[in-house]
Amino acid sequence: MIGPRILKANEESIKEAAADLNRGSMVVFPTETVYGLGGGTLNESSLESIYRLKGRDLDNPLIAHVLDIEGARELTTGWDDRCTLLADAWWPGPLTLVLGRASTVPAVASGGRPTLAIRSPQHPVARELIEAYGQPISAPSANRSGEVSPTCAQHVLDDYSGDPAADGMIILDGDRCHVGIESTVLDMTVDPPRILRPGALTAEVLEPLIGPIEHTDIHQTSSSPGTMESHYSPQTNCLLVDVDEMRHRLANITERCVVLVSNPDHHELVQPPHSLMVMPMDPDGYAHQLYDALRRADSEQADLILIESNGEQDPNWMAIRDRLTRAASDRPF
Ligand code: TXA
Ligand code: MG
Repeated sequence: MIGPRILKANEESIKEAAADLNRGSMVVFPTETVYGLGGGTLNESSLESIYRLKGRDLDNPLIAHVLDIEGARELTTGWDDRCTLLADAWWPGPLTLVLGRASTVPAVASGGRPTLAIRSPQHPVARELIEAYGQPISAPSANRSGEVSPTCAQHVLDDYSGDPAADGMIILDGDRCHVGIESTVLDMTVDPPRILRPGALTAEVLEPLIGPIEHTDIHQTSSSPGTMESHYSPQTNCLLVDVDEMRHRLANITERCVVLVSNPDHHELVQPPHSLMVMPMDPDGYAHQLYDALRRADSEQADLILIESNGEQDPNWMAIRDRLTRAASDRPF
């Protein structure tokens, strides 16, 4: 079968994957957020193949993954005390900092920008791979550009099986990603720092460390091109609705829907031929299951995916709201 191959992550497979990175090949590896499609940060041709395989715009920058602060400082300029405070508190973890790009880092590592996004992942397999390779690894989420991110090895195999450009590529299987949505991207080159992509960590946990942080509006796209409005999108048409609209639509349409509902009181609204997907009530549980649920909903080949929005304004729901809004956006960009 043409396409990538899944290898259970262990000492031997991680060594093999590191050897592939050394040869300039791509490797898929788990992080605590989502699976990444990795190549050596200092290896231009391997970075180019990442853009090609994902179908990603060449001006959409990548995140470099390092083990620690020292590794981050080697690749960036402008590291200051605030960065140290943030990294001491949250690295390894789902926090990405945008800083100046050091002259030793190829421009393609950050889509030609003078800045570089950098984070230290927590997943032991990601860390062991960086260690075995001995160099930083740049990796976007391993999905095709604009589609739903992968949170297990099988998702990645589903995306690339049959693709000759991914033939023989190792997918290191490190089980399901614990967090389930991407890291928070924080631009440290502006004052005050600005969240370019909401993620696993909220401003509320970062501000006590470094003071006020600004948010980028969902419709603002220029500072972080990957955060375009339509993103994280299943193939099936997708709508984000409140319970009243959900009730109305289910009573009035002939199309077959897959409905993602978290409130148990609303489960009974979904009756055949529609199908119900039960989502957790808490934000951590919801994030953990979100991409798998969107992928499974997609595979049912229904006419429509309806997602119940819970109207929660709590900051812990912000990144989930962001992803759902983008998944349900069919506006072309
Ligand atoms: O959790 C994560 O961040 C995962 C795992 C694999 O680490 N990675 C990930 O990468 O989500 P990606 O490429 O799918 O998303 C990175 C986001 C994009 O929106 C990109 O535009 C933004 O970060 N970004 C990267 N470098 C940037 C830079 N120099 N300036 C502004 N935005 C940047
Ligand atoms: Mg992505």
